[in-house]
Amino acid sequence: MIAVQYSAALPADWQLRPEAAAVFTIELDGDAASSPSERDLLDEGERVRAARFQIPLLQRRYIAAHAALRRVLARALSLAPERVPIGVRSDGKPTLAGELAGALWFNLSHSAGVAVVALSAIGELGVDVEEIHRLPDADDVAERVFTAGERAAIERASSTRCDRAFFAAWTRKEAYIKATGEGLRAPLLDIQIDPESSSDERAVLHGRGASTSEVGWRVLDLELVPGFAAALAAPRGTAAVECYPYAAADLRSRAESGAWCSR
Ligand SMILES: CC(C)(COP(=O)(O)OP(=O)(O)OC[C@H]1O[C@@H](n2cnc3c(N)ncnc32)[C@H](O)[C@@H]1OP(=O)(O)O)[C@@H](O)C(=O)NCCC(=O)NCCS
Repeated sequence: MIAVQYSAALPADWQLRPEAAAVFTIELDGDAASSPSERDLLDEGERVRAARFQIPLLQRRYIAAHAALRRVLARALSLAPERVPIGVRSDGKPTLAGELAGALWFNLSHSAGVAVVALSAIGELGVDVEEIHRLPDADDVAERVFTAGERAAIERASSTRCDRAFFAAWTRKEAYIKATGEGLRAPLLDIQIDPESSSDERAVLHGRGASTSEVGWRVLDLELVPGFAAALAAPRGTAAVECYPYAAADLRSRAESGAWCSR
């Protein structure tokens, strides 16, 4: 069983440990997260993408999410945030680049005013967060995204829990397809995230009918923010998941104290 631990603050001596994935929840609309100086942490590619947003709120959120991602990676790598080398794999999945490739693995997700950053020191992982809301075409989406077993589990939820059940199942599947990097190109109906699990941890099965086999990730439901569903696909070997609220000040203080390595 993978233990999920929720902490109120990041310990001053926090380090990413091989057996424990770390998950940071970022409130994108807070003053600290969206301060103008956060833009200075982004690389050229991120600034170009930020500039493409026509709606100021969305631009601020993008900058806040990417600055937070950089601060978290910087803390785990003992590096200055603007020096974290972020590249993109051929399938589009962002990854550490250059000589830091494989130093650790990360994934980012955002929805409305919330972003989540997940880190692992042992392998690729995927994370997804979604604001729970009523989808007018939920049945059509479910037909395209969920296996019969997953749909049956959603339908068994009472009507008041139905939207939550839908987004819980959605975030589980999206966390997994983000772990592999396939994203929405994945054969969604050939992937089943165990809908019958009695715990928050689920196996992933690939294939249809008798030819299914389990893959090397486990999917966990996370309770991060009220009104949002979230899930993490953690690599085999993960023993614990540590969840922290993101506070730029916690991470910034080390930089200001000169504790950063400037490689
Ligand atoms: C990966 C994907 C599922 C993310 O969907 P989303 O609704 O934007 O969800 P999230 O907010 O959870 O994730 C976005 C983050 O995932 C990361 N990401 C991007 N591509 C990724 C991939 N292939 N695998 C894992 N993570 C990826 C990025 O950090 C991105 O953040 P950014 O846009 O601020 O840089 C979706 O973009 C996808 O399927 N991409 C690959 C296929 C593709 O390009 N399809 C075109 C549209 S169908």
